[in-house]
Amino acid sequence: MMTRIYMDHSATSPVAPEVLEAMLPYFSQKFGNASSLHSFGLEAKEALEEAREKVANLLGADPEEIIFTSGGTESDNLALKGIARLHRQKGKHIITSSIEHPAILEVCRILEKEGFEVTYLPVGSEGLVDPAALEAAIRPDTTLISIMHANNEIGTIQPVEEIGKIAAEKDIFLHTDAVQTAGKIPVDVDRLGVDLLSLSGHKFYGPKGVGALFIRKGTKIESIVQGGGHERSLRSGTENIPGIVGLGRAAELAGQEMPQEMERLTGLRDRLAGYVLDQVPESWINGSMTHRLPFNLNFGFKYVEGESMLLYLDAKGVAVSTGSACSSHKLEASHVLRALGLAPQDCHGSLRITMGRSNTSEDADYAGRCIVEAVQRFRGISALGR
Ligand SMILES: Cc1ncc(COP(=O)(O)O)c(C=O)c1O
Repeated sequence: MMTRIYMDHSATSPVAPEVLEAMLPYFSQKFGNASSLHSFGLEAKEALEEAREKVANLLGADPEEIIFTSGGTESDNLALKGIARLHRQKGKHIITSSIEHPAILEVCRILEKEGFEVTYLPVGSEGLVDPAALEAAIRPDTTLISIMHANNEIGTIQPVEEIGKIAAEKDIFLHTDAVQTAGKIPVDVDRLGVDLLSLSGHKFYGPKGVGALFIRKGTKIESIVQGGGHERSLRSGTENIPGIVGLGRAAELAGQEMPQEMERLTGLRDRLAGYVLDQVPESWINGSMTHRLPFNLNFGFKYVEGESMLLYLDAKGVAVSTGSACSSHKLEASHVLRALGLAPQDCHGSLRITMGRSNTSEDADYAGRCIVEAVQRFRGISALGR
């Protein structure tokens, strides 16, 4: 059988067997609506609240601070629109970064059309937001700051803790998109000092189409989906109980394995980076190597096209990505790589590797050899330079 190695965990991850097992009964025999008052309903309601507790535990939050949503995109939409619109009398200025996921950037565009003003902070060549620059961008009418915890393309971990102190001092709401960190590295809402935090189940071995938004107690926010008043009227619609149960189980598992898995993946990451950088001249890693997710590598190679590399690697059984999965159908250079100040031609030779639970050191070595082979092959026939 052909080798199939999955190294695209920032796009999505497989549902863990334990997660699937926990979910299955809630599709069939335990199918109740959590709003029903009979025993079927109570069974579903209990499962819903148990999952809420597990997600809260992962974040150091209280269960009543967790709202279930359909995923990271909806959580981001709810956080930004919900805060901005409700508090518009207080001010109409929002601060975010230029390397956020489209689930933030596109929402900001909508808010701009509604009359809000948005400052998109640049990042340095390492891909990090400068807290001093953020502080300088604060105005008397700033009501919301949204800075992602870690970037999905280059894996850089932002100084959210420092930003949290600034936001608290100035009494400004702080949201973080933690879709790439929750379940992967420690995420503690008090340590980070955030008022709102988005996460998504499918990024950490839970199912797709389910996520959560942490909303700190006392933080007033308006809903974006109105209806029967579910989730404290913040997210109406019959709850996706199987998905939510899966998300809860995934959160529980992630908490248990996190320290060992972080160490293991850091080892694999550094081994793969070391090998490739050593073998390939004019190659580099995009984004800080110190403030970085343990499982992310984003290689830059001169004189090659990321897309050709991806297809070559796929033929060898190694699944990776260029930039982010969400923007891979677009041909323009990634907004994240451009924000690092890379020349356009250097953005096109990027390859994102995101390792996870199933990856072994043999996988890392095999992927390394295939990458080196691919660069050599494409440079041999490259029309991009040299
Ligand atoms: C940083 C970030 N935010 C938000 C999302 C969207 O999450 P979801 O796929 O659950 O809507 C993603 C997924 O790619 C992401 O990486």
